[in-house]
Amino acid sequence: MINRSISRIIEPQLVIEGAGVLLKRSISPRASNEYDPFLLFDHFAFNNPLEGPSRGFPTHPHRGLETVTYMLEGSVNHRDSLGNAGKIGSGDVQWMTSGRGILHEEMPRRGENGNIYGFQLWVNLPAAQKMSQPRYREVSAGKIPVVEKDGAIIRIVAGEVDGIRGPVTEITAAPLYMDVKLAPASRFILPIPSGHTVLAYVFNGAGEFGSDPSTALQQAQDNSSGQAVESVSMVVFNDDGDQIEVKSDAAGRGVQFMLIAGAPFKEPIVPYGPFVMNTQEEIQQTIQELRNGTFIK
Ligand code: FE2
Repeated sequence: MINRSISRIIEPQLVIEGAGVLLKRSISPRASNEYDPFLLFDHFAFNNPLEGPSRGFPTHPHRGLETVTYMLEGSVNHRDSLGNAGKIGSGDVQWMTSGRGILHEEMPRRGENGNIYGFQLWVNLPAAQKMSQPRYREVSAGKIPVVEKDGAIIRIVAGEVDGIRGPVTEITAAPLYMDVKLAPASRFILPIPSGHTVLAYVFNGAGEFGSDPSTALQQAQDNSSGQAVESVSMVVFNDDGDQIEVKSDAAGRGVQFMLIAGAPFKEPIVPYGPFVMNTQEEIQQTIQELRNGTFIK
């Protein structure tokens, strides 16, 4: 098998969203659709209680995409136009398929230590499913399988490691979404089909990712050297192999990252705020429906 090399390393930008929530954003929806089928990745990290209560994301719409919320510390209170309400706590995941439309509210709350720490990933929907029924999958922390392997502790939200599958299935992009914690002096290798987009959001420690393209030949003899990556960064892999490799050195404190992979839809997209459709007309129609009160059917 061949290791994928690194295409680029993105430094997350601080942005303000919702009612004044400061977060780290590494990718956001663009017509160029570079990370197809993934649209956005936000990192919530409010770790200073002196900042006061978090202001959250008051009622807003979504259409044409899926939002995946994964909390490590603190929680998010959630409520929507379909009558759903709940709380995403530490270690829990909510996989929300907006389909043709929901209006929801997302309010982060500090955990016991005063911290809020979590991620929201947006996954695109293919044209045929953009106007589907909204759907939720709530997965509590205890239902997420944990695989320990060669110094790695892997929490599998979606995808498979050694025959163990995450609880979120039946998603069109066949995504893989895992929280990987690698101890010092360890090596993590995972096969990922070529053609799939692969990202790794490194949020703790540091490691060596992928293989240096200049050593592509030696790579075949398993003599690869990766690219050093420090937290916090989004690593984008090239589509030049069928597995990914991450190493941690003995001197460091290991590395922790969210591994994200999925099959691209290769369809044109038109993003507009919380909507991601395929044409400008569909965006216009969405705005029209919001105005005349027919957005929620
Ligand atoms: Fe939202």
